[in-house]
This record gives sequence, C-alpha cells and structure tokens, in this order.
Amino acid sequence: MDWGMANRLAQLIQADGHALFLPVDHGYFQGPTRKLEEPRKTIEPLMPYADAIFITRGVLRNAVDPDNTKPIILRVSGGTSVAGKDLDNEGITTSMEEAIRLNAMAVGLSVFVGSDHERESLLNLSALVNEGERYGLPVMAVTAVGRELAKRDARYLALACRVAAELGARVVKTYWCEGFDKVVQGCPVPVVMAGGPQVDTELEVFRFVYDGIQQGAIGVNLGRNIWQNDFPVAMIKGIRAIIHDQATPEQAQELYESAQNEAKSS
Ligand code: 5RP
Repeated sequence: MDWGMANRLAQLIQADGHALFLPVDHGYFQGPTRKLEEPRKTIEPLMPYADAIFITRGVLRNAVDPDNTKPIILRVSGGTSVAGKDLDNEGITTSMEEAIRLNAMAVGLSVFVGSDHERESLLNLSALVNEGERYGLPVMAVTAVGRELAKRDARYLALACRVAAELGARVVKTYWCEGFDKVVQGCPVPVVMAGGPQVDTELEVFRFVYDGIQQGAIGVNLGRNIWQNDFPVAMIKGIRAIIHDQATPEQAQELYESAQNEAKSS
C-alpha cells in the first residue's frame, strides 16, 4: 500500500485497530434532520470524542473550523432527497480534486445493492475507487437501504458488503443485524456499523455496538443514536468506551448515566 493511503487509513483507524466515525451528513438527502438543524451546535461538543467526522463539503465549510477538527471523511454522493421518488438514484457530487483541496482523509458514497439503481451506484463506487487509489484516498462504501429498513438482515448485508469490498472500498459501513458474524466474515475489508433511526434505549445501542465489535467490526459510523439523544456527549462517551476501552454494555450504561448526571448538574 502506498504511503499516502496507509497514512490516511492510520489517521482514521486508530492504533488499537478500532474507530469511532461520527456521521453528520444526513442533511444531504433529509434536509434539516432533527437535532442537526444547526450542524455547528451538534458537532462541536462531540468532536473531541470522535476519531473522524463524515460530512458533506457544504456543512464542512460552514460549520467546522479548519483549525479545530478531526480527520474528515467527505460524503461525495447525492443528488436525491426524501421529497423525490428514488433515493437510490445517487450520483457522485464532489470531485476528487475538491476532496484533496478540503484535506479529506477519505471519501464516502452510498451503494444501493438490489435497488433499481444498483448498477449505477456500484459503477459510481468503482469510478471513485479508481480515482481514490490514484491519489491515495480511501473510499468508504455506505451500504444504504433507502426507505427499506427491513432489508437489514445478515444475508442482504453480507452480499452488499462483499460486493462493495470486491469493487475496492477500503472500508465498508453497514448495519448491525442478527448473525452479524456472517457479514463481517464475508467482508475482507474493515467494517463499521451505522445505527439507523434512533432506538428506544441507550442500552440497546450499547448492546449492538458491543456485539458488533465482538463479531469483528472495527467500530462505528453512528450518528442519530448519538446526536438525537438528549445527552449526546454522554452517549458518545459510552460508545467510545466500548470501542476503545473494551467496556461492556453495562459499563457503557454506567458511564452514560454518570455523564448524564454531570450534564444535568452543570
Ligand atoms: C446517512 C448515512 C449515515 O452516515 C449513516 O446512516 C450513519 O448514520 P446513522 O447512525 O444515523 O444511521 O449514510 O446519510
């Protein structure tokens, strides 16, 4: 592996082999998502606990100070929105030149395996990998399901992750699911987990993150279950402890509660 690619990956994936990516890219198709209406207010308190942030160029330029940031994974696909018909009909929105100008450590795009636009999204991935490899920028493939959240089962996700890895993604983002070991075992590149829409309890999040790590995921690219929580800093601290300090879900919950109490009394 060339030095630039190795160096960028080392800035994203920490020395312990694990990573906590914080995605704040949701507005590129969801608009002002709940609790991400003013991205700077959401991002700033969480930044110290993230290893990298996943973000579009528009929010990066307007909501992140260039002298106070973490490595950037630039979201470079889009072109659709929740108001339209086909969420899966994305194109590449941002050039490699722009990614380099913004000092991105990686670029990320969605692939929609099994959708009407499967072919286009996979060829987008391939084209991005061709360019990324030329300039030493890793590509993170996001195995997206659009509105079809029920697709998140091991058989489908193993297929989507493997296809993305075969086409050259250096990291694959997918969802945790029952039988997650099959997803990780079938994917020859590092896997990170998204959270999806906010779930009912913090412990549920800590449990699936913990299980995913036990099954071989290197970490998370997890957004709404952090920043839509009423105590986002407490939440990211709990998740960070599982990823980097081998905490159990129960220990993460204790950490969450004590950070929550601190936040309430300050
Ligand atoms: C949405 C994305 C997100 O980066 C990904 O889904 C992770 O976020 P969340 O944990 O909120 O699902 O690709 O654009």
